[in-house]
Order: sequence, then C-alpha cells, then structure tokens
Amino acid sequence: MTLPNLLVTAALPYANGHIHLGHLVEYIQTDIWVRFQRLMGRRCIFICADDTHGTAIMIRARQEGRSEAEVIADMQSAHERDFAGFDISFDHYGSTNSPENLELCSQIWSSLRQAGLVVEDDVEQLFDPVAGTFLADRFVKGTCPLCKTVDQYGDNCSKCGATYSPTELINPTSTLSGATPVKKTAKHLFVRLEALHEFLDSWTQSGEHLQSEIANYLKGHFLGNPLRDWDVSRPAPYFGFEIPDSPGNYWYVWFDAPIGYIASTWQWCKKNNEKLADWWHSDQTEIHHFIGKDITYFHTLFWPGVLKSAGFSLPKFVHIHGFLTVDGEKMAKSKGTQVQAATYLKHLDPQFLRYFYASKLGPRLDDIDLNLTEFANKVNSDLVGKVVNLASRTARFIETVGLAPEYPHDGGLFVSAAAAGDKIAQAYEQVDYSRAMRMIMEIADQANAFVENTAPWTLKKDPNQQVRLQEVCTIVLNLFRQLCVYLAPVLPKLADQCGQLLQSPIQHWNDSQTPLVNSPISKFEHLLQRLLPEKVQAMIDESKVESTPVESETLASTTADAPPAASQDSGDALAAEPMAPVCTIEDFTKVDLRVARIVKAEEVPEAKKLVKLTVSLGGDNIRTVFAGIKAAYTLQQLEGRLVVIVANLQPRQMKFGLSEGMVTAAGPGGTEVFLLGVDSGAVPGQRVH
Ligand code: 2FM
Ligand code: ZN
Repeated sequence: MTLPNLLVTAALPYANGHIHLGHLVEYIQTDIWVRFQRLMGRRCIFICADDTHGTAIMIRARQEGRSEAEVIADMQSAHERDFAGFDISFDHYGSTNSPENLELCSQIWSSLRQAGLVVEDDVEQLFDPVAGTFLADRFVKGTCPLCKTVDQYGDNCSKCGATYSPTELINPTSTLSGATPVKKTAKHLFVRLEALHEFLDSWTQSGEHLQSEIANYLKGHFLGNPLRDWDVSRPAPYFGFEIPDSPGNYWYVWFDAPIGYIASTWQWCKKNNEKLADWWHSDQTEIHHFIGKDITYFHTLFWPGVLKSAGFSLPKFVHIHGFLTVDGEKMAKSKGTQVQAATYLKHLDPQFLRYFYASKLGPRLDDIDLNLTEFANKVNSDLVGKVVNLASRTARFIETVGLAPEYPHDGGLFVSAAAAGDKIAQAYEQVDYSRAMRMIMEIADQANAFVENTAPWTLKKDPNQQVRLQEVCTIVLNLFRQLCVYLAPVLPKLADQCGQLLQSPIQHWNDSQTPLVNSPISKFEHLLQRLLPEKVQAMIDESKVESTPVESETLASTTADAPPAASQDSGDALAAEPMAPVCTIEDFTKVDLRVARIVKAEEVPEAKKLVKLTVSLGGDNIRTVFAGIKAAYTLQQLEGRLVVIVANLQPRQMKFGLSEGMVTAAGPGGTEVFLLGVDSGAVPGQRVH
C-alpha cells in the first residue's frame, strides 16, 4: 500500500515586514518535517506564499509613496532571499495577490453563497477621523473586554486568547494617528459559521486533527456556545480583492489568505504539470498546516468550515507551535533581540539556529526560549564537539587508503545506532524534535567514547598499527555518517558535506542502516565551524541600531493635536521656533521624508499665502500639496525643482482642496522662505534619512 502524498504549508507571512527569528521557528520546524518526510521517501510538497492584502500594506504604500504592487514585490523578494538563506526548501512560494487566488476566492465565495452561508449586516466599525479610514483590527489597541489586559489589538487578546470586535475594546486608540476612533456604520458580509457547528464539533474533537490542548481550548472557548458570524468583508478603501457581487466591498485579508494555500499549490501544479484536484480533492493526499498559536481560530474553525462548504479536502493535521522568547523575554527591537533573518545571516551559520530550534521544539504548544548563552554552548558542544569532531579527528588519517575493505567489529555500536533509527524517525514524525535530538546526541556520545578509547591520533604514530587505524577510522566515519543521516532534516548542509567526504550522497533515511566500506574518501574540508560568542553579540548590536521597517502597528503617528503644518495657510507656521526636544531614531523614522519633484505650481486665487503644488514621488505617485510660499517664490521658480516633503502626513481637507503632504522649508516665513532641496541626482520617491 502506498502512503498518501503530503502537502505541507507554513503560515503565509505578511508582506508588511521582514522575517525575523520569531517567524523562523515555524519555517524551520516545518522545513525539518518536510525534509524528514522526503528522506523517508514520501512524496511531499512544501507550499507557501506572501500574505499581501489588508490595510497594513495600503497604509505602508501610502506612507512610502509607492504603489502596493511595488511594496509587496520588494518584500516578496526579501522574504524569498531570507528563506533561502535558512535552507527552507519550499517547492513553491507564491503570493495571495495572484489571479489564481482571485479565481479560487470567487469560486469558494459562490459555494458559500449557494450554501446560504453568507449574510449581510450593518456593522458599526471604528473609524479614524484623522486618518480618514476605517480601522482594521490591528490598527486599534485598547483594553481586552474579557480579562482587562491593557494594550491589546482589536482582533484578539494575546493574554487570554479571546477574539472580539475592536468596538468591544475598552479605551480604544488608533495606532495610525493616536486619535480616539469614532464608530461609523457600513454594510458588511458575514459567513454563518454556526451553521457548521456540528461539523466543527466533530472535526475538532475527533482526536485526529489537532493537538489535544487545542481541541480542549476550542471546546472550552468557542464550541460551547453558538459560533459568531465571521465578518469577511471590508469597505473601500482597502487593498485586496473586490467582492464580485458586492462592489465597493473587499474580502477581508483573512478570507483570502488561507485560500492562498490552494492558489499557491495551483501555481506549483501549473509549473509542474500536475492537477490541483490531486492535491486538494483527493484521498491520496494528506494536507498538513503548520502555524503559530496566535492564529489558531482562523485555521481550526473558520478554515475547515470554508473548506468543507466548498468541497475541498480538510487538513489531516494542523500542527501548532508556541512563541519565541529571547533570553526569557519577548523579543524587543530596543534590546536588539528582534533579529531579522538577514542580520542573523551576516553573522552566523543558519545551521546553528536550525539545530538549536530543533533541540527545543516538542509536539506541544510551549513557548521556546532562545537563551543566547545556551545557544552558543549547545551548538558548540553538540554539533562541533560531538558530531563534526568525529570526522575531523579521523578523516585525514585515511585520506589515502580510504575505508576498510570490510566493516570491522565495533562492539555493536553501528547496529545499535541503526536500531535507534525507528524511534528517532517516530519522534520526527510526531514533530518531537527535541526528543529526536536527544536520542541522536546519545549515539554521538557513544561514538565519542569509542574515539577516546581507541585514540586514532596515537595509532597514527605507530607504523605497526596502520591497519587498526584504518579500521578505527572506518568505524568512526560510519558512525558520523549515521548521525548525519539522522540530522539531515535539520542540517541539510552537513549531510551534503558528509556525502561529499565519503563519496556517497545521503539520499534516504535507510542510508543509516548499512555501513560504507571499501571505498575512497575525499580530502577532508572543514565542516561546521565553532560559533563565536562575539558574533552573537555583534548580531545583537547590529539589530539594535538597524533601521527597522515600519510595521503596521507602529505607523507614523500624526497626532490629532499636532501643530499646524507649514503647507497650510497659517500665518506663523514657518516662524523660527525653539529647538525641539531630543527625539529617538524610532521617533525620527516615523516621519517619512521623501524627495519629490514639483511638476506643476499653480495660483490659489482665494488664498493670501498659498500656492498649489503638484508633486511627483516617482511613478504614478502624484500628490497635491498646498504650501505657504507664495511671497517667496514665483511659479516658474518652483516648477521642475526637487523638494523634500513629509510624505506620511495625515492628508488635510482645506477650503481649496485636499493637501496630501507638507513641503519642508526653513526661514521665518513671508518672503523669507527657503525650500529644502536635494542635489540633482536624487530621485523622486527616495527616502530622506
Ligand atoms: O499571522 C500571519 O502572519 C498571517 N499572515 C498568516 C496567514 S496564514 C494563512 F492563512 F494564510
Ligand atoms: Zn484578554
């Protein structure tokens, strides 16, 4: 009987931020499982994509003066580069902003409509009167209505796990502007999840698809009561797919994101001449999702409900992991512990982190801690001290003669390590990597005891012991190879290097069961090098100072009571002012200063001091800005010149039109206004640092 194929996914990362060590827990965890399955000979595809829609991207694009398409394309290449750097072996990495996803969303939407699961209702949502937009859940913070923990986002509570609507938050504030949001009503579309209650009860509680803690949590928190309708639409403005039968409304990002799993598989199918139905409509395929515990609800209630209603296969298992802490605390940019993947790779070998996470990850939901001292010690003592050492202490001694003609007597070491293979495989299968690593290191300990006892470096010196030396080295290198097979899902590079050294690539788990004999070996080249603690420190130091991209939750804050801007018709806006208080780099980076070219300057006849400027920030990003510089410049002097504008200033409705930014200038005002400029060579749209 052939085992079913496997389709494995990791959560689709948001396109509004870089990958950091916290994200990597999941991608490494999933990649290890995928590589393990492939090593066992299972057909297994690993599918992922960028999650591109939503208000966060829209706001970021606005703020950066670029189109959403540009923002998501850049982030997609950064994500793909980072994942490749950590040897994450996706078969396909797509995007939710794809024609395939739109088509699947439409198809699934029709199924939901046909099943009578879609209802319409007026929704009172929080609206930011300063930013002029409805506020996505992540843009509102306040006190959890259930457990009263402060500083929680508008969709769910990180303390008690409750999900709620942002209007239920106590003391809400907009993270876009700091303003107190107001309630405003709009039409929304909902999926009636309660109609699927019975199905979800049996699917989640069957004991087959979820970790028991998760099943219990769902039962205790959600399934004991009627399930709430799921709000799946957002009114314009929104970056996403417009709902075909509801113009002006867009699917909420969480509707189209998981459908992205199917869309990305479809793209892979097109490239590889495969049928989508073989992967999402077939008993011959098992679907495994890997996710973090913060997105449990979406993947264990809403997503199975959607799949069921639309006739797709359900996940065989949703594997859920905990969060990462660093040195026992939540990652923090200010402490340099929110290390970006790219920063890590500048300083350290990705295999160190892969191994460390493997040694910590179990099948449960516990958070894992990256204690930096333990990290360096463990990697050095286990990987360098116990594994790589086996090869570096023996391979050179038999470079010329190769492995012994027959496998010598080793006191049962190889056979017992081979016998451990099944248990180690079982641990990998159960996502219990910490158990697998412990068993592997026990084997390594025995191999090292053998090296100590036989002391090949002493044999080397005695001309009468050269046969024995070859035997000892053959044993040790075979034990090394066994370890490399067992570690191959975690350390694919080391497994490759071992294959090169012994001139026999590691291709299957069963390569651990038979020793290599009577074959040449290659010249020994350095394998994994020691982890130097000063490099960890250098990585942390760099993370402290690096300019982190603006995340959705820390967007530019132009507070409601900000002073009047120079571009507005305010007499003293340009007057000399006392020096401002010290601001941090974080404060400074909130202000998005951009190079812009004035493409048109026009009179505003009704205004005493204003001119109307049309400025270009590159591409089709054109804005209108009103600036109080009429007395200082002629229109001709302005047209064509480069200026520096504040690009993320909250647009302001003026009597004469909407002002979408602020031109920077020095001087007291009136005829003494000096526009800040940049030398020619700067390009509109470039950020001023
Ligand atoms: O939580 C997140 O980072 C989401 N972008 C995960 C989406 S997973 C899937 F549903 F697309
Ligand atoms: Zn709470």
